[in-house]
Amino acid sequence: MAVKSIRDLEIGGRRVFFRFDFNVPLDETGTIKDDTRIQRALPTLRYAMEQGARCILSSHLGRPKGEKRPEMSLRPVALRLGDLLGREVRFADDCVGTKAEDASHALGDGELLLLENLRFHPGETKNEPEFAQKLARLADVYVNDAFGTAHRAHASTVGVPGLVSAKGAGLLLKEELDSLTKAFSNPEKPVTAIFGGAKVSDKLGVLTNILERMDSVLIGGGMANTFLAADGLDMGISRVEVDMLDTARDIVRSASEKGCSLYLPVDVVSAPAMEHGAECKTVAVEAVPTGEMALDIGRRTAAEFTGVIARAGTIVWNGPMGVFELEDFKAGTMAIARAVASAPGFSVVGGGDTVRAIHQAGVTENISYISTGGGAFMEFMEGKTLPGVAALEE
Ligand code: 3PG
Repeated sequence: MAVKSIRDLEIGGRRVFFRFDFNVPLDETGTIKDDTRIQRALPTLRYAMEQGARCILSSHLGRPKGEKRPEMSLRPVALRLGDLLGREVRFADDCVGTKAEDASHALGDGELLLLENLRFHPGETKNEPEFAQKLARLADVYVNDAFGTAHRAHASTVGVPGLVSAKGAGLLLKEELDSLTKAFSNPEKPVTAIFGGAKVSDKLGVLTNILERMDSVLIGGGMANTFLAADGLDMGISRVEVDMLDTARDIVRSASEKGCSLYLPVDVVSAPAMEHGAECKTVAVEAVPTGEMALDIGRRTAAEFTGVIARAGTIVWNGPMGVFELEDFKAGTMAIARAVASAPGFSVVGGGDTVRAIHQAGVTENISYISTGGGAFMEFMEGKTLPGVAALEE
Protein backbone atom coordinates (compact mmCIF):
# COMPACT_ATOMS: atom_id res chain seq x y z
CA MET A 1 0.00 0.00 0.00
CA ALA A 2 1.15 3.48 -0.74
CA VAL A 3 2.75 5.84 1.73
CA LYS A 4 2.53 9.50 0.83
CA SER A 5 5.62 11.69 0.96
CA ILE A 6 5.57 15.04 2.76
CA ARG A 7 5.84 16.47 -0.77
CA ASP A 8 2.33 15.11 -1.53
CA LEU A 9 0.79 16.81 1.49
CA GLU A 10 -0.72 20.29 1.81
CA ILE A 11 1.37 21.71 4.67
CA GLY A 12 1.63 25.47 4.01
CA GLY A 13 0.10 27.47 6.88
CA ARG A 14 -0.95 24.24 8.66
CA ARG A 15 0.20 22.83 11.99
CA VAL A 16 2.26 19.74 11.23
CA PHE A 17 3.18 17.17 13.91
CA PHE A 18 6.59 15.70 13.08
CA ARG A 19 7.87 12.50 14.68
CA PHE A 20 11.68 12.50 14.47
CA ASP A 21 14.27 10.22 16.04
CA PHE A 22 16.44 12.66 17.98
CA ASN A 23 17.61 9.85 20.27
CA VAL A 24 21.22 11.09 20.24
CA PRO A 25 24.02 10.27 22.68
CA LEU A 26 24.61 12.95 25.36
CA ASP A 27 27.59 13.20 27.73
CA GLU A 28 27.28 13.83 31.50
CA THR A 29 27.12 17.61 30.89
CA GLY A 30 24.20 17.22 28.44
CA THR A 31 26.38 17.93 25.40
CA ILE A 32 25.42 16.07 22.22
CA LYS A 33 28.23 13.65 21.34
CA ASP A 34 26.99 12.74 17.86
CA ASP A 35 24.36 14.82 16.04
CA THR A 36 24.03 12.59 12.94
CA ARG A 37 20.34 11.92 13.57
CA ILE A 38 19.67 15.67 13.92
CA GLN A 39 21.61 16.45 10.75
CA ARG A 40 19.66 13.80 8.83
CA ALA A 41 16.35 15.46 9.82
CA LEU A 42 17.37 18.80 8.29
CA PRO A 43 16.21 18.24 4.68
CA THR A 44 12.64 17.53 5.87
CA LEU A 45 12.68 20.53 8.17
CA ARG A 46 14.10 22.88 5.54
CA TYR A 47 11.46 21.73 3.07
CA ALA A 48 8.67 22.21 5.65
CA MET A 49 9.92 25.70 6.52
CA GLU A 50 10.10 26.70 2.86
CA GLN A 51 6.50 25.54 2.44
CA GLY A 52 5.42 27.69 5.41
CA ALA A 53 4.41 24.76 7.63
CA ARG A 54 3.97 25.44 11.34
CA CYS A 55 6.30 22.77 12.63
CA ILE A 56 5.71 20.88 15.85
CA LEU A 57 8.64 18.53 16.38
CA SER A 58 8.59 15.49 18.64
CA SER A 59 10.97 12.70 19.62
CA HIS A 60 12.03 10.43 22.42
CA LEU A 61 15.47 10.43 24.00
CA GLY A 62 16.68 7.44 25.99
CA ARG A 63 14.37 5.24 28.03
CA PRO A 64 13.02 7.38 30.91
CA LYS A 65 10.20 4.85 31.51
CA GLY A 66 7.37 7.38 31.81
CA GLU A 67 9.16 9.67 34.25
CA LYS A 68 10.48 13.18 33.83
CA ARG A 69 14.25 12.74 33.88
CA PRO A 70 16.10 16.07 33.40
CA GLU A 71 19.19 14.33 31.99
CA MET A 72 17.02 13.02 29.12
CA SER A 73 15.54 16.38 28.21
CA LEU A 74 15.41 17.32 24.53
CA ARG A 75 16.36 20.94 25.31
CA PRO A 76 19.96 20.47 24.02
CA VAL A 77 18.46 19.22 20.75
CA ALA A 78 16.41 22.42 20.37
CA LEU A 79 19.60 24.47 20.72
CA ARG A 80 21.54 22.32 18.24
CA LEU A 81 18.69 22.42 15.74
CA GLY A 82 18.51 26.19 16.07
CA ASP A 83 22.26 26.46 15.35
CA LEU A 84 22.04 24.15 12.34
CA LEU A 85 18.97 25.80 10.84
CA GLY A 86 20.05 29.34 11.71
CA ARG A 87 16.72 30.15 13.31
CA GLU A 88 14.96 29.95 16.64
CA VAL A 89 13.52 26.60 17.71
CA ARG A 90 11.05 27.18 20.53
CA PHE A 91 10.81 24.59 23.28
CA ALA A 92 7.74 23.29 25.14
CA ASP A 93 8.69 21.71 28.46
CA ASP A 94 5.85 19.21 28.19
CA CYS A 95 4.79 17.44 25.00
CA VAL A 96 1.04 17.56 25.82
CA GLY A 97 -1.33 19.87 27.71
CA THR A 98 -2.54 23.45 27.51
CA LYS A 99 0.90 25.04 27.30
CA ALA A 100 1.98 22.83 24.40
CA GLU A 101 -1.36 23.41 22.63
CA ASP A 102 -1.12 27.20 23.10
CA ALA A 103 2.48 27.13 21.83
CA SER A 104 1.40 25.15 18.75
CA HIS A 105 -1.31 27.73 17.98
CA ALA A 106 1.14 30.61 18.48
CA LEU A 107 3.43 29.37 15.69
CA GLY A 108 3.67 31.44 12.53
CA ASP A 109 4.30 30.02 9.05
CA GLY A 110 7.69 28.32 8.86
CA GLU A 111 8.25 28.51 12.64
CA LEU A 112 9.40 25.61 14.80
CA LEU A 113 8.49 24.25 18.22
CA LEU A 114 10.23 21.22 19.76
CA LEU A 115 8.24 19.28 22.36
CA GLU A 116 9.86 17.75 25.45
CA ASN A 117 10.68 14.01 25.45
CA LEU A 118 7.58 11.97 24.56
CA ARG A 119 8.68 9.13 26.86
CA PHE A 120 8.34 11.34 29.95
CA HIS A 121 4.72 10.11 29.71
CA PRO A 122 4.00 6.38 30.14
CA GLY A 123 1.25 6.66 27.48
CA GLU A 124 3.87 6.98 24.73
CA THR A 125 5.42 3.51 24.86
CA LYS A 126 2.09 1.93 25.92
CA ASN A 127 0.40 3.56 22.93
CA GLU A 128 -2.44 4.79 25.16
CA PRO A 129 -5.31 6.23 23.07
CA GLU A 130 -5.83 9.20 25.46
CA PHE A 131 -2.18 10.18 25.16
CA ALA A 132 -2.27 9.83 21.36
CA GLN A 133 -5.37 12.06 21.30
CA LYS A 134 -3.59 14.73 23.34
CA LEU A 135 -0.69 14.69 20.87
CA ALA A 136 -3.04 14.73 17.87
CA ARG A 137 -4.70 17.88 19.25
CA LEU A 138 -1.47 19.75 18.54
CA ALA A 139 -1.69 19.49 14.76
CA ASP A 140 -3.68 19.05 11.54
CA VAL A 141 -1.16 16.98 9.57
CA TYR A 142 1.17 14.14 10.69
CA VAL A 143 4.62 13.45 9.25
CA ASN A 144 6.85 10.60 10.43
CA ASP A 145 10.55 10.99 9.68
CA ALA A 146 11.81 8.72 12.48
CA PHE A 147 13.11 5.64 10.69
CA GLY A 148 15.13 4.73 13.81
CA THR A 149 11.88 4.35 15.77
CA ALA A 150 9.71 2.85 13.01
CA HIS A 151 9.91 -0.61 14.64
CA ARG A 152 8.15 0.68 17.78
CA ALA A 153 4.33 0.70 17.97
CA HIS A 154 4.09 3.75 20.22
CA ALA A 155 1.53 6.54 20.53
CA SER A 156 3.56 8.95 18.41
CA THR A 157 4.34 6.38 15.72
CA VAL A 158 1.07 4.47 15.33
CA GLY A 159 -1.51 6.18 17.58
CA VAL A 160 -1.38 9.73 16.20
CA PRO A 161 -1.37 8.79 12.47
CA GLY A 162 -4.69 7.01 13.03
CA LEU A 163 -6.24 10.22 14.32
CA VAL A 164 -5.30 12.83 11.72
CA SER A 165 -6.82 13.59 8.34
CA ALA A 166 -3.52 13.78 6.47
CA LYS A 167 -0.33 11.82 7.03
CA GLY A 168 2.88 10.93 5.26
CA ALA A 169 6.58 10.16 5.46
CA GLY A 170 9.36 12.70 5.77
CA LEU A 171 12.25 12.81 3.32
CA LEU A 172 14.59 10.76 5.53
CA LEU A 173 12.06 7.98 6.12
CA LYS A 174 11.42 7.81 2.35
CA GLU A 175 15.14 7.72 1.61
CA GLU A 176 15.73 4.95 4.18
CA LEU A 177 12.90 2.82 2.79
CA ASP A 178 14.03 3.31 -0.82
CA SER A 179 17.69 2.53 -0.08
CA LEU A 180 17.00 -0.49 2.11
CA THR A 181 14.44 -1.84 -0.34
CA LYS A 182 17.08 -1.55 -3.07
CA ALA A 183 19.50 -3.57 -0.92
CA PHE A 184 17.04 -6.24 0.23
CA SER A 185 14.20 -6.58 -2.26
CA ASN A 186 15.95 -6.36 -5.57
CA PRO A 187 19.65 -6.58 -4.82
CA GLU A 188 22.54 -6.77 -7.23
CA LYS A 189 23.97 -10.32 -6.81
CA PRO A 190 25.95 -11.77 -5.16
CA VAL A 191 24.69 -10.44 -1.85
CA THR A 192 26.97 -10.52 1.19
CA ALA A 193 25.95 -9.78 4.77
CA ILE A 194 28.51 -9.02 7.45
CA PHE A 195 27.49 -9.55 11.05
CA GLY A 196 29.41 -8.80 14.20
CA GLY A 197 28.83 -7.53 17.70
CA ALA A 198 28.82 -9.29 21.02
CA LYS A 199 25.94 -11.72 20.91
CA VAL A 200 24.33 -14.28 18.61
CA SER A 201 21.08 -13.82 20.56
CA ASP A 202 20.89 -10.14 19.44
CA LYS A 203 21.06 -11.19 15.77
CA LEU A 204 19.13 -14.42 15.94
CA GLY A 205 16.01 -13.19 14.15
CA VAL A 206 17.92 -11.64 11.32
CA LEU A 207 20.36 -14.55 10.97
CA THR A 208 17.62 -17.15 10.69
CA ASN A 209 15.50 -15.12 8.30
CA ILE A 210 18.12 -13.71 6.00
CA LEU A 211 20.12 -16.77 4.96
CA GLU A 212 18.01 -17.68 1.94
CA ARG A 213 18.38 -14.19 0.52
CA MET A 214 22.17 -14.07 1.00
CA ASP A 215 24.87 -15.63 -1.13
CA SER A 216 27.38 -15.29 1.69
CA VAL A 217 27.40 -14.30 5.34
CA LEU A 218 30.58 -13.23 7.16
CA ILE A 219 30.53 -13.52 10.93
CA GLY A 220 33.00 -11.76 13.20
CA GLY A 221 33.03 -10.06 16.60
CA GLY A 222 32.08 -11.71 19.88
CA MET A 223 29.26 -13.67 18.26
CA ALA A 224 31.77 -15.60 16.14
CA ASN A 225 33.13 -17.16 19.37
CA THR A 226 29.82 -18.93 19.92
CA PHE A 227 29.87 -20.33 16.36
CA LEU A 228 33.48 -21.48 16.76
CA ALA A 229 32.72 -23.09 20.14
CA ALA A 230 29.68 -24.77 18.55
CA ASP A 231 32.11 -26.28 16.04
CA GLY A 232 34.00 -27.86 18.94
CA LEU A 233 36.82 -25.32 19.34
CA ASP A 234 38.19 -24.30 22.73
CA MET A 235 37.79 -20.52 22.83
CA GLY A 236 39.67 -20.05 26.14
CA ILE A 237 37.87 -17.49 28.32
CA SER A 238 36.19 -15.78 25.34
CA ARG A 239 32.57 -14.83 25.91
CA VAL A 240 30.56 -17.77 24.52
CA GLU A 241 26.76 -17.98 24.75
CA VAL A 242 26.44 -21.55 25.92
CA ASP A 243 22.66 -21.54 25.47
CA MET A 244 23.10 -20.58 21.81
CA LEU A 245 25.43 -23.41 20.77
CA ASP A 246 22.64 -25.55 19.28
CA THR A 247 21.15 -22.50 17.57
CA ALA A 248 24.53 -21.69 16.06
CA ARG A 249 24.78 -25.26 14.70
CA ASP A 250 21.26 -24.94 13.26
CA ILE A 251 22.21 -21.69 11.52
CA VAL A 252 25.32 -23.30 9.99
CA ARG A 253 23.23 -26.27 8.77
CA SER A 254 20.49 -24.06 7.41
CA ALA A 255 23.02 -21.87 5.57
CA SER A 256 24.46 -24.87 3.79
CA GLU A 257 20.97 -26.18 2.89
CA LYS A 258 20.08 -22.79 1.44
CA GLY A 259 23.26 -22.45 -0.56
CA CYS A 260 24.58 -19.56 1.50
CA SER A 261 28.34 -19.64 2.20
CA LEU A 262 28.94 -18.90 5.85
CA TYR A 263 32.42 -17.62 6.78
CA LEU A 264 33.82 -17.66 10.31
CA PRO A 265 37.18 -16.28 11.47
CA VAL A 266 40.24 -18.42 10.81
CA ASP A 267 42.42 -16.36 13.17
CA VAL A 268 41.77 -13.94 16.04
CA VAL A 269 43.60 -11.40 18.19
CA SER A 270 43.75 -12.90 21.66
CA ALA A 271 44.63 -11.34 25.03
CA PRO A 272 44.25 -12.22 28.72
CA ALA A 273 41.98 -9.21 29.37
CA MET A 274 39.75 -6.78 27.49
CA GLU A 275 41.87 -3.73 28.27
CA HIS A 276 44.19 -1.33 26.54
CA GLY A 277 47.80 -2.43 26.79
CA ALA A 278 46.96 -6.09 27.46
CA GLU A 279 49.55 -8.38 25.90
CA CYS A 280 47.92 -9.52 22.66
CA LYS A 281 48.83 -11.83 19.82
CA THR A 282 47.26 -13.18 16.67
CA VAL A 283 46.53 -16.91 16.79
CA ALA A 284 44.67 -19.46 14.68
CA VAL A 285 41.15 -20.08 15.98
CA GLU A 286 42.21 -23.60 16.97
CA ALA A 287 44.98 -22.19 19.18
CA VAL A 288 43.38 -19.62 21.51
CA PRO A 289 45.48 -19.99 24.69
CA THR A 290 43.82 -21.16 27.90
CA GLY A 291 43.14 -18.07 30.01
CA GLU A 292 42.89 -15.78 26.96
CA MET A 293 40.00 -14.42 24.95
CA ALA A 294 39.41 -13.52 21.30
CA LEU A 295 38.85 -9.77 20.95
CA ASP A 296 39.24 -9.07 17.23
CA ILE A 297 39.49 -10.95 13.95
CA GLY A 298 43.03 -11.59 12.74
CA ARG A 299 44.75 -10.46 9.53
CA ARG A 300 44.11 -13.70 7.61
CA THR A 301 40.40 -13.48 8.40
CA ALA A 302 40.28 -9.81 7.39
CA ALA A 303 41.95 -10.69 4.09
CA GLU A 304 39.53 -13.55 3.41
CA PHE A 305 36.49 -11.40 4.29
CA THR A 306 37.86 -8.56 2.13
CA GLY A 307 37.99 -10.89 -0.88
CA VAL A 308 34.32 -11.86 -0.46
CA ILE A 309 33.29 -8.23 0.04
CA ALA A 310 35.19 -7.13 -3.09
CA ARG A 311 33.24 -9.61 -5.23
CA ALA A 312 29.79 -8.71 -3.86
CA GLY A 313 27.16 -6.83 -5.85
CA THR A 314 25.44 -5.80 -2.59
CA ILE A 315 26.94 -5.61 0.89
CA VAL A 316 24.99 -5.23 4.13
CA TRP A 317 26.88 -4.65 7.38
CA ASN A 318 25.77 -4.63 11.01
CA GLY A 319 28.06 -5.14 14.00
CA PRO A 320 31.81 -4.62 14.60
CA MET A 321 34.43 -7.36 14.19
CA GLY A 322 35.96 -6.82 17.64
CA VAL A 323 36.29 -4.44 20.57
CA PHE A 324 37.15 -1.57 18.24
CA GLU A 325 36.72 1.05 20.98
CA LEU A 326 40.13 -0.12 22.27
CA GLU A 327 43.16 0.69 20.09
CA ASP A 328 44.60 -2.83 20.44
CA PHE A 329 41.51 -4.54 19.03
CA LYS A 330 40.30 -2.19 16.33
CA ALA A 331 42.37 -3.35 13.32
CA GLY A 332 39.87 -5.99 12.14
CA THR A 333 36.87 -3.67 12.21
CA MET A 334 38.85 -0.91 10.49
CA ALA A 335 40.00 -3.33 7.77
CA ILE A 336 36.40 -4.39 7.11
CA ALA A 337 35.26 -0.74 7.06
CA ARG A 338 37.90 0.02 4.41
CA ALA A 339 36.99 -3.12 2.47
CA VAL A 340 33.29 -2.21 2.40
CA ALA A 341 34.11 1.36 1.40
CA SER A 342 36.39 0.38 -1.47
CA ALA A 343 34.19 -2.44 -2.79
CA PRO A 344 32.40 -1.70 -6.08
CA GLY A 345 29.08 -3.16 -4.81
CA PHE A 346 26.15 -1.22 -3.32
CA SER A 347 26.90 -1.00 0.42
CA VAL A 348 24.44 -0.44 3.23
CA VAL A 349 25.50 -0.04 6.85
CA GLY A 350 23.29 0.27 9.94
CA GLY A 351 23.53 0.27 13.73
CA GLY A 352 25.19 2.76 16.06
CA ASP A 353 28.49 0.90 16.63
CA THR A 354 28.96 0.05 12.97
CA VAL A 355 28.30 3.62 11.86
CA ARG A 356 30.78 4.87 14.49
CA ALA A 357 33.36 2.42 13.12
CA ILE A 358 32.78 3.75 9.59
CA HIS A 359 33.32 7.32 10.84
CA GLN A 360 36.42 6.25 12.78
CA ALA A 361 37.89 4.63 9.67
CA GLY A 362 37.28 7.90 7.79
CA VAL A 363 35.37 6.20 4.96
CA THR A 364 31.87 7.60 5.49
CA GLU A 365 31.76 9.21 2.04
CA ASN A 366 32.41 5.90 0.31
CA ILE A 367 29.51 3.94 1.74
CA SER A 368 26.49 3.85 -0.59
CA TYR A 369 23.96 4.24 2.22
CA ILE A 370 24.24 4.71 5.98
CA SER A 371 21.01 4.01 7.85
CA THR A 372 20.00 5.96 10.96
CA GLY A 373 18.32 2.81 12.27
CA GLY A 374 19.66 0.31 14.78
CA GLY A 375 16.79 -1.98 15.82
CA ALA A 376 14.66 -0.71 12.92
CA PHE A 377 17.42 -1.56 10.44
CA MET A 378 17.64 -5.09 11.84
CA GLU A 379 13.88 -5.62 11.71
CA PHE A 380 13.75 -4.33 8.14
CA MET A 381 16.50 -6.83 7.27
CA GLU A 382 14.47 -9.60 8.88
CA GLY A 383 11.64 -8.73 6.50
CA LYS A 384 9.33 -7.61 9.32
CA THR A 385 6.68 -4.96 8.78
CA LEU A 386 7.65 -1.79 10.63
CA PRO A 387 4.57 -0.54 12.54
CA GLY A 388 5.55 3.11 12.09
CA VAL A 389 5.56 2.63 8.32
CA ALA A 390 2.40 0.51 8.23
CA ALA A 391 0.59 3.27 10.14
CA LEU A 392 1.29 5.70 7.27
CA GLU A 393 -0.30 3.51 4.62
CA GLU A 394 -3.41 4.93 3.05
C1 3PG B 1 17.24 3.58 18.56
O1 3PG B 1 18.18 4.27 18.99
O2 3PG B 1 17.42 2.44 18.09
C2 3PG B 1 15.87 4.19 18.50
O3 3PG B 1 15.90 5.53 18.85
C3 3PG B 1 14.88 3.41 19.33
O4 3PG B 1 15.19 3.49 20.68
P1 3PG B 1 14.60 2.40 21.69
O5 3PG B 1 15.35 1.12 21.41
O6 3PG B 1 14.86 2.94 23.07
O7 3PG B 1 13.13 2.25 21.39
